[in-house]
Amino acid sequence: MVKLVKEEELEDELDVENIEGVGPTTRDKFYAAGIYDIKQILTFSPQDLVEILGISYDKAVEISNKARKKLTELGLMESTFSAASEVLKRRLTIDRITTGSNNLDSLLGGGIEVGALTEFYGEFGSGKTQICHTLCVTVQLPKEKKGLDAGAVYIDTENTFRPERIETIAKARGLNPENVLKRIFVGKVYNASHQELLTREIPNYIERENCRLVIVDSAMTHFRAEYVGRSMLSERQQKLNRYLHTLLRLAEIYKVAVVITNQVQAAPDVFFGDPTKASGGHVMAHASTYRIYLRKSGKNRIARIVDSPYHAEADAIFTLTDAGIGDPEENTKK
Ligand SMILES: Nc1ncnc2c1ncn2[C@@H]1O[C@H](COP(=O)(O)OP(=O)(O)O)[C@@H](O)[C@H]1O
Ligand SMILES: [Mg+2]
Repeated sequence: MVKLVKEEELEDELDVENIEGVGPTTRDKFYAAGIYDIKQILTFSPQDLVEILGISYDKAVEISNKARKKLTELGLMESTFSAASEVLKRRLTIDRITTGSNNLDSLLGGGIEVGALTEFYGEFGSGKTQICHTLCVTVQLPKEKKGLDAGAVYIDTENTFRPERIETIAKARGLNPENVLKRIFVGKVYNASHQELLTREIPNYIERENCRLVIVDSAMTHFRAEYVGRSMLSERQQKLNRYLHTLLRLAEIYKVAVVITNQVQAAPDVFFGDPTKASGGHVMAHASTYRIYLRKSGKNRIARIVDSPYHAEADAIFTLTDAGIGDPEENTKK
């Protein structure tokens, strides 16, 4: 049964304390951890809640279930089966963000999808960071121009975010650079646990600043650097898995686009297999909704969509310009 609540009352309804069974003690633990509302809770797995709040696993599962129940009551989450025709109708109205390249947009079925986790991977210089910068600008375009008139949150792990580059891209697209910069919230992270901590704050920016795009450039850097060697591999994969699922839930619950990058090296053993499969491990492959493999082709770049639930494996050619991502002038496909 969906309960009707006015927009201005929704915030109160979503307060952690409105979850059945959450008393003042647990509520205060949530507040102390910077978690104030029910949606935020659902971005965590029960195991995350155990660690963040120091509560028992059973309690964490109970809270997750009750939180989900509350969201379905408020009509913010589906709880039961839907006819596939309804699902299709919903999918056709999904918001998307243009990448700036028509070729790349078509490859993605119209642009970067909200509610999904999109991963760009490829070697150094393949254009991952350029795509991230461009999206921070295009998300701000009005809907008629294939944006969402919204802001962006940017987690920068490699110290490659450049506001100057944003200015150039914004100017080239006829936007006021100063206004554009004000709507991008950048967090520079120093290690994996700092990354997890900052990610936990993202819901605040989504809600208060109307951000609809979350970027993590790049997702794995710190995990890779901190968990070195074979003996650490399983712990690393476990941590990474949990982190990526937090991002995926963030996308689904807040209806934002989450874009992550992943740097891969052309390893010698790739020679014998499919290079597009040889990155990030299975963990990465399983968490991402869409994976796009980027490679250099002279001045241009080739994007290939891999393992998509509904796209055929196909290529698109794009280029890097002052305006960010664009289509090559001649040789424009499609
Ligand atoms: N203003 C610009 N115009 C055209 N190309 C640019 C511009 N700025 C950077 N590039 C190109 O972007 C490439 C680097 O891409 P980048 O996104 O940083 O790669 P990575 O995949 O390692 O993140 C370089 O080849 C660089 O020449
Ligand atoms: Mg980069």
